[in-house]
Amino acid sequence: MAQDGNIGLAIIGSGSSVPLLGLDNQALSQVVDTSDEWIASRTGIRSRRLASPVESLRSIATEAAKNALEMAGVPAAEVDLILLATSTPDDLFGTACQIQASLGATQAVAFDLTAACSGFVFGMVTAAQFIRTGAYKTVVLIGADILSRWVDWGDRRTCVLFGDGAGAVVLQATPARDGFLGFELRSDGTLNHSLNLAYQPQPQALTGGVAVSQGTFHPITMNGQEIYRFAVKKVPEVIEKALFRANLTVDQIDWLLLHQANQRILDAVADRLGIPADKVISNMAAYGNTSAASIPLALDEVVRSGNVRVGDTIVASGFGAGLSWGAAIFQWGR
Ligand code: ACO
Repeated sequence: MAQDGNIGLAIIGSGSSVPLLGLDNQALSQVVDTSDEWIASRTGIRSRRLASPVESLRSIATEAAKNALEMAGVPAAEVDLILLATSTPDDLFGTACQIQASLGATQAVAFDLTAACSGFVFGMVTAAQFIRTGAYKTVVLIGADILSRWVDWGDRRTCVLFGDGAGAVVLQATPARDGFLGFELRSDGTLNHSLNLAYQPQPQALTGGVAVSQGTFHPITMNGQEIYRFAVKKVPEVIEKALFRANLTVDQIDWLLLHQANQRILDAVADRLGIPADKVISNMAAYGNTSAASIPLALDEVVRSGNVRVGDTIVASGFGAGLSWGAAIFQWGR
């Protein structure tokens, strides 16, 4: 049980899935006026995976969830809740229910959660609340995005940054020890203009002065320097607050797992917190910024490589559109 008498929880499995096709910086320089040197030196990104027209959010998210359930040794029929953190659903009404069907998780309730690149951390905290209250015992949390659908492939300031992917974890109530140690979430809608993927209304007259809006979403627009400054200031603050809530100090952290937006942001945040580079998890060179998928995708890689061990303390922090940002501190494994 958790210290305060609430039900404890453990993160007991991870999984991931990325689209088949990759596009490296060299190949991308055939699409827009850029270079491997520019992209790699400014961001640390060297390649990204892109979903083909026959792949879907449902397909990669389902694969990631299956892999996580397999690692956890939990049958799909035992899942109580499926949370899908995404900003790029196959269906604006939500994609989580389709994933429930694909998994055969017949007992699970499923819904989407949108908090952009913070979605996985917000999802983790949401899952923890359902478990702590005793409402649900087993939760599959997926972070998945196909931002290539919404990137302007003619805008070199944004299209070089993003990639597609999915990652998932299984969280379960546990009477043994509590592996969810603390969190802090933040939002600031006054900065929404600096990063968005906004609906663009297109007026359509119906009858008798009645008009509706039949538009579509405008590709991603971003003020890169504003987002950089925001991340480097706010992420260390929110991590420090989460550490305080967990009654932990920075030196008790085994791994820093940040949203994989930009290597320079990772380095600056680690530097401000005094966390050495060998504790910083980074895989953006291969995948770029995969939005809600980036944290579970990177987590799954380090877990499967054997670098992260049971009981290791991980601080995860997501940040992005909204603007939204947050940190969650947890111990890996049962
Ligand atoms: N290739 C070549 N040149 C480029 C490219 C490119 N892909 N993109 C921009 N440039 C040029 C610009 O045109 C500009 O040239 P100019 O001076 O002749 O006009 C020059 O490079 C500098 O452009 P800046 O936009 O000022 O470049 P900056 O140094 O700020 O780097 C970057 C841009 C990498 C985006 C940086 O601002 C950054 O890392 N910001 C954080 C963004 C981020 O991480 N966003 C995602 C987080 S939130 C989320 O995950 C959704």
